[in-house]
Amino acid sequence: MTLPPKPAARPDRVSLWRYLRLFRQDILSAQPARLYRAWMAEFRTLFFRSYLCNDPELVSRVLKDRPQDFPKSNRIREGLRPLLGNSVFLTNGETWARQRRIIDPAFEGGKLRDSFPAMWQAGGASVARLHLKIDKQAIDIEEETSHVAADVIFRTLFSIPIEDETAAAVFHAFRAHQRTAPVLNLGAFLPLPRWFPRFHAHKTKATAQHIRRLITHLTAERAQQIARGNAPDDLATKIMTTPDPETGRGFDTDEMVDQVAIFFLAGHETSASALAWALYLLALYPEWQERVAEEALALDTAPGDFAVLGALRLSRAVFREALRLYPPVPMLVREATCPETFRERPIRPGDQIVLSPWHLHRHERIWDAPDAFDPARWETENARTAARCAYLPFSTGPRVCPGAGFAMAEGPLLLSMIARDFVLEPVAGRTPVPVAQLTVRGKDGIWLRLTPRRSQRP
Ligand code: HEM
Repeated sequence: MTLPPKPAARPDRVSLWRYLRLFRQDILSAQPARLYRAWMAEFRTLFFRSYLCNDPELVSRVLKDRPQDFPKSNRIREGLRPLLGNSVFLTNGETWARQRRIIDPAFEGGKLRDSFPAMWQAGGASVARLHLKIDKQAIDIEEETSHVAADVIFRTLFSIPIEDETAAAVFHAFRAHQRTAPVLNLGAFLPLPRWFPRFHAHKTKATAQHIRRLITHLTAERAQQIARGNAPDDLATKIMTTPDPETGRGFDTDEMVDQVAIFFLAGHETSASALAWALYLLALYPEWQERVAEEALALDTAPGDFAVLGALRLSRAVFREALRLYPPVPMLVREATCPETFRERPIRPGDQIVLSPWHLHRHERIWDAPDAFDPARWETENARTAARCAYLPFSTGPRVCPGAGFAMAEGPLLLSMIARDFVLEPVAGRTPVPVAQLTVRGKDGIWLRLTPRRSQRP
């Protein structure tokens, strides 16, 4: 059976400079194949030490049991601050805890139901766009998945579709930003010495400022609507009107701008990447595609009804499998703050700890057939056990992604809506090579040929 694409690993031993060069090109192919079997690996150079931990006990210790002792590293903040300011993604300690106390209620339980109509409408708009776009041509599906995921975020956060002038401006500004900062995270993953040239150049700062100006406009406008009592009941209003239960203080406009920036980035880049890979996998495995398309007919029985998600079981299994094989956030970086012992090795304060969903999800000692696409695996004992200790597309512990439930509704829904309307095929000679940019993307896009399965829906 064909295996889905996996980047070639580098040879075991390379010089630091070769490593840095490879790293600059792509974090995934810069790593040796032994990381898919190892429990822990050390990267030691003149300037830094970092440890990649695949041992589930260590993953649990860092993310779940003692997260306060392994905060996000300052170096991550340095690279991302121009865009994300003091957003919840970057903060630590009490500031972070307070921000989560305000944000989390907006994503809890029943609230997901409130966001569902917006996801449904964005899905409908995407299918309509695809009908216009395809015309027998192969398309880079990542463009469309970025578009629809951004649309979902705007509709759920601010009740505006992506066609809205400001929403479109933010979306395009983010794209321009990513072009100037394709290795935005490099400084974070590689703790380089202070004198080493940084990669967030002048232009990156300028695009970040432009994005923040646009978001400030949206947020200030919303603050006025809340004050006047005519704000729509969406995610932005929920977050801006929730006081911290401990201090009674909510976000001011500046803080909200930081949070909107991360919701937009974390919420649309990741979902776009996962959906693009899931669609590619359906194209590669037509028998699964047919089953998902058939299941998707359930969408016609109760359009827009939240309960329909319960009927999309196969779509959910495919989406979970896509998140396993191509986790949009391939690596998480933390910093040790006190002396530790990891698998009998001493860890010093300041050492970087890398948790790698990319390697854990394909770990040869944990998963049966780790590189194979098999959505049916989720019914097996092996996958159930592995999922508990080696499946973290959304991270785990107190810093777990607050949008996980949201993403697990959005992803299977959009996958089903597209599979219901189109037959998907891979394009000969255009096998996507996974690379880690801001998220895991196809090196030259993810190309598919779509043909209508049935006529366009009203
Ligand atoms: C398939 C979709 C998604 C994936 C795979 C994903 C994955 C992740 C991961 C792995 C983290 C932890 C990063 C780290 O600790 O370094 C994270 C954090 C976060 N995600 Fe998501 N995410 C997704 C969708 C979303 C959505 C839809 C939203 C919001 C609407 C969102 C908002 C956030 C925020 C605010 C954080 C920071 C949480 C904190 O540090 O306390 N994500 N996400």
